[in-house]
Amino acid sequence: MDRADGEVVAALRREIRTPGHGLDRLRLVPTPFVPEVRLHLADDPIVWWARMEAAAGHRLPAPYWASAWAGGQALARYLLDHPQLAAGRRVLDLATGSGLVAIAAALTGAARVRANDIDPYAVAATRLNAHANRVTVETTDLDLLDTDGGDADLLLAGDVFYSPPMADRVLSFLERVAARGADVLVGDPGRGHLPAGRLEVLTAYRVPTTEPAVGSPVRTVRVLRPRPPGR
Ligand SMILES: C[S@@+](CC[C@H](N)C(=O)[O-])C[C@H]1O[C@@H](n2cnc3c(N)ncnc32)[C@H](O)[C@@H]1O
Repeated sequence: MDRADGEVVAALRREIRTPGHGLDRLRLVPTPFVPEVRLHLADDPIVWWARMEAAAGHRLPAPYWASAWAGGQALARYLLDHPQLAAGRRVLDLATGSGLVAIAAALTGAARVRANDIDPYAVAATRLNAHANRVTVETTDLDLLDTDGGDADLLLAGDVFYSPPMADRVLSFLERVAARGADVLVGDPGRGHLPAGRLEVLTAYRVPTTEPAVGSPVRTVRVLRPRPPGR
């Protein structure tokens, strides 16, 4: 059972239902580059985080799930523009955050979508966002990076190369999953930890971003896949 069962889902549901406006609120809004999907996002995730920590009286994980990350937006756009990629397949969305990419896969007719994140708030937000978009998404909060992704035949990873330790673990995972025959797609806005030679570019988009601490409102984001061995 996910840790998101119960308390965390209830806390987020309360947040969503409590009337009010302002930088520290969550709002259900169309995703800028993927308006087909609506997400509960914070106007200012840092302010929301500070208020939630003050209310809880202890530290909480950074609310990555309360922003639409550029890498996830590009990957979700790519899936919706190429619906045959996920249709009828067993999909795993690694590091799902808000669940955006998983929801896009479900909207294009995936046979099953599993969304994974180690942050129980991300898992709870994904469930609430899937419900808001009327799709079914299973969730798991286990750390899957040392596995081979189970029976997924399409692995999706939006904006996961944001730190050196994460990039090392994720790359090994993606290559292990690809080596057993699954398709793997990555969305990345050039965060600097992406091992460019090990991946090949499928397309690039100019993506509006709502991320905190990003100077430009638009970023170039690439959709990539692991390079087959020997190429
Ligand atoms: C930058 S956010 C990207 C979220 C989403 N994929 C998107 O593009 O909108 C990175 C996410 O990775 C998650 N994460 C970090 N380590 C993880 C791990 N070992 N397994 C699964 N998720 C992880 C974080 O909790 C966070 O939600």
